[in-house]
Amino acid sequence: MKKGLKVAVLGAGNIGIAIANGLVNSKLFSNENVFLTKRKLATLKEYAEKGFKITSDNKNAVKESDILILAVTPQQLNPLLLDIKSEIKADKHVIISIVSGASIKEIKSQLGEDIALVRAMPNTAIAIQESMTCIASDDNKNDCQDIAKEIFDACGRTSVIDETQIVPATALCACGIAFFLRAIRAASQGGIEIGFHAEDALLMAAQTAKGAASLLVNLGSHPESEVDKVTTPMGCTITGLNQMEHAGFSSAMIKGIVSSSEKAAQLYHID
Ligand SMILES: NC(=O)c1ccc[n+]([C@@H]2O[C@H](COP(=O)([O-])OP(=O)(O)OC[C@H]3O[C@@H](n4cnc5c(N)ncnc54)[C@H](OP(=O)(O)O)[C@@H]3O)[C@@H](O)[C@H]2O)c1
Repeated sequence: MKKGLKVAVLGAGNIGIAIANGLVNSKLFSNENVFLTKRKLATLKEYAEKGFKITSDNKNAVKESDILILAVTPQQLNPLLLDIKSEIKADKHVIISIVSGASIKEIKSQLGEDIALVRAMPNTAIAIQESMTCIASDDNKNDCQDIAKEIFDACGRTSVIDETQIVPATALCACGIAFFLRAIRAASQGGIEIGFHAEDALLMAAQTAKGAASLLVNLGSHPESEVDKVTTPMGCTITGLNQMEHAGFSSAMIKGIVSSSEKAAQLYHID
């Protein structure tokens, strides 16, 4: 990717801000080269003070930028596309949409068939460069796929997938952050009941969860082979684990992910 490119995050809400933090923490972009847009700017004061370009003027942000990250909700996408359409230069801009449910075909039908467009699904851990991001595109026009991969590689792990898998990736990776956070919170509540203060229990649960994930990510282990190492015959781990399974632990996670995926598929409509 060329040096000095400018990026506009159109829709600087929860994930937009997380992306902006990831972009500058990764050192790919300086604060001054990141535009953040939203209609009510009060929540972005802190970012203005840090040197980010804060504005409600999407058109100008598009005009001034090379890379556009669409980060509004599915219900807010059509008015945004209408707003920026006149400023899109097909031979200049790289557009990355993280809007759940909006397909490449549906976005191109509104902005033009010749735009360089990548669909991406990051999660909020992008703020600390620990996202799992899935990306999909029809082609590599304006090096759009290479640029998106370089950006998301600098902000965690990236997987290039077929667009048909972006909705399932939304459930597993983007929503998945919340599922694992809830699991950690549940573990910490158990920790409180057996004798730890809340903040100690939370740290112990979170670091234990991080260790478990790192065993899989760093060593490439299978979860069950790591579980086997912890479950001493007639021991306390297998007793606790089986109790959780009797209460539907794995089944609840699977059902939640399938339901999220079904919901994600229905979120966006052009009309
Ligand atoms: N949150 C996640 O973890 C996550 C992960 C992956 C993908 N996504 C997807 O990312 C999108 C955003 O999700 P979110 O959770 O970040 O929602 P959000 O917090 O509601 O952010 C959306 C932002 O867009 C702004 N906005 C709305 N219309 C606008 C316009 N015309 N021009 C400029 N800004 C506009 C809103 O601010 P104003 O009201 O002030 O304009 C708001 O701050 C969704 O499509 C979601 O499915 C989210």
